[in-house]
Amino acid sequence: MSIAKFDRIFVAMEQKDLLKDIISHCKEYGFIFPSSEIYDGLAATYDYGQLGVELKNNIKTYWWKAMTQLNPNIVGIDAAIFMHPTTWKASGHVDAFNDPLIDNKDSKKRYRADVLIEEYVEKQRQKIDKEVEKGKKRFGEHFNAEQFKTTNPNVLRIQEKISSIEERMKKALNDNALDDLQQLILDLEIVCPISGSKNWTDVRQFNLMFSTSLGSVSGESSTIYLRPETAQGIFVNFLNVQKSGRMKIPFGIAQIGKAFRNEIVARQFIFRMREFEQMEMQFFVKPGEELMWYEHWKIERKKWHLSLGLGEDYYRFHDHIKLAHYANAACDIEFNFPMGFKELEGIHSRTDFDLKQHEAHSGKKLQYFDTTTNESYVPYVVETSVGLDRLFLSILSAAFKREELEDGSERVVLSIPAPLAPYKVAVLPLLKKDGLPEKAMEIVHQLRQHFSVQYDEKDSIGKRYRRQDAIGTPFAITIDHETLENHTVTLRSRDDMSQQRVAISEVEKQMTDHCGWPALFNRLN
Ligand code: GAP
Repeated sequence: MSIAKFDRIFVAMEQKDLLKDIISHCKEYGFIFPSSEIYDGLAATYDYGQLGVELKNNIKTYWWKAMTQLNPNIVGIDAAIFMHPTTWKASGHVDAFNDPLIDNKDSKKRYRADVLIEEYVEKQRQKIDKEVEKGKKRFGEHFNAEQFKTTNPNVLRIQEKISSIEERMKKALNDNALDDLQQLILDLEIVCPISGSKNWTDVRQFNLMFSTSLGSVSGESSTIYLRPETAQGIFVNFLNVQKSGRMKIPFGIAQIGKAFRNEIVARQFIFRMREFEQMEMQFFVKPGEELMWYEHWKIERKKWHLSLGLGEDYYRFHDHIKLAHYANAACDIEFNFPMGFKELEGIHSRTDFDLKQHEAHSGKKLQYFDTTTNESYVPYVVETSVGLDRLFLSILSAAFKREELEDGSERVVLSIPAPLAPYKVAVLPLLKKDGLPEKAMEIVHQLRQHFSVQYDEKDSIGKRYRRQDAIGTPFAITIDHETLENHTVTLRSRDDMSQQRVAISEVEKQMTDHCGWPALFNRLN
């Protein structure tokens, strides 16, 4: 079978089918399973399987190395999930970590009021995209999309509608005016996606923190929370790290860990879960310099995402409509998931709010002494916060492809960035005899000191290639009779299916070039 690059066509996939396909692919190949499945699962809770955990660990490693190894002024910590309960009073989470919820009386389904409105706005944006598409068809190669968007009456009308909705929502959220939020939903005639009715309850606030009791006696004084963000573990350790590490401002503290939120609506696979993992970095700066660093980290984080090579079109910035209680600037890096553009990472200028609150509640000073100016101050903080599970989903969404091959067969391929792939290489003896498996095992032993290697001798070589494509293995090495004669192997590449004959001694170098961390680091410059 000829498997040249240009013989393939991508099979067009509806976006909504894509998520379904990814979910079943993840289960079939051991990336992600529903949690406690034998008991019919637990809503919005998932377990990472044997391949999922490898991919997840590789994503973590890349983030961690990019943060700490490439930035000499950023160090990491690993704080406990349980924290003193006053932490959450100080941070504002006990009083203000709420989402506005609304129920549909007919379907009995619960929604986040702000999300219902955002989804309505997103549909309006899609209408603009359709108008632009129509314009493109009408005006051909001379079409100027930007000019069209600022002059076409239909687009301008929709744009005006979006601005007015966003303005009303922002005001309602900022004023905590839950009646106004409900009125907006009624005015926009938003219907429940399940019942199709507009029979809504009032909007109420709902605190997202999970609580449990410490020790054997439950009661008011022993109530503690599962952390809803990892950031507070960094804030309370700010001075410990600064002093013990002799850190000079500006400096950052990075952390990867679990966070828990009792989300009103947890759905869309691993996009919104009640137990998830965050990768956060708090960057401590001199007061007054925070907005400069905020811009800096916006650029750096976008660069990091682009370094994965999934494509620039997948990303966009979105400024927050309502600033959190602690922020003076905030935006999201959004990703075009199968269900549309959604938040992937938050970048927030958190002012000195958290450190000042912890000073006030603990009675301990959390100040930095600047030896160059001989002054003490509470630093300002810019944070970058990305959900590991969302990052995992973003990579799979862009990597998952169905391709039709020249012979009419189809392959599913996961074009995961090579350094992140669960296995980097598959070693495949062409036949299960004539000393080929033994030679293959020699190569496995040599390579596995540097890379994760899979050995496979079952089924035809074509089937084995398909299996490796489906789990995203970037390279396959085939050992045949020629290997025994001249110490060369066939090196096959996952993405373009090209094959080349290379000396065994060459394989390791080629693998390092493509699968080593520098392959990604070099794109960060
Ligand atoms: N410390 C700031 C903070 O927690 P956030 O915007 O609430 O900010 C940061 O969360 C990131 O955590 C989000 O951009 C998202 O990637 C991830 N995240 C938040 N809630 C999540 C959930 N329920 N499930 C999965 N990921 C979530």
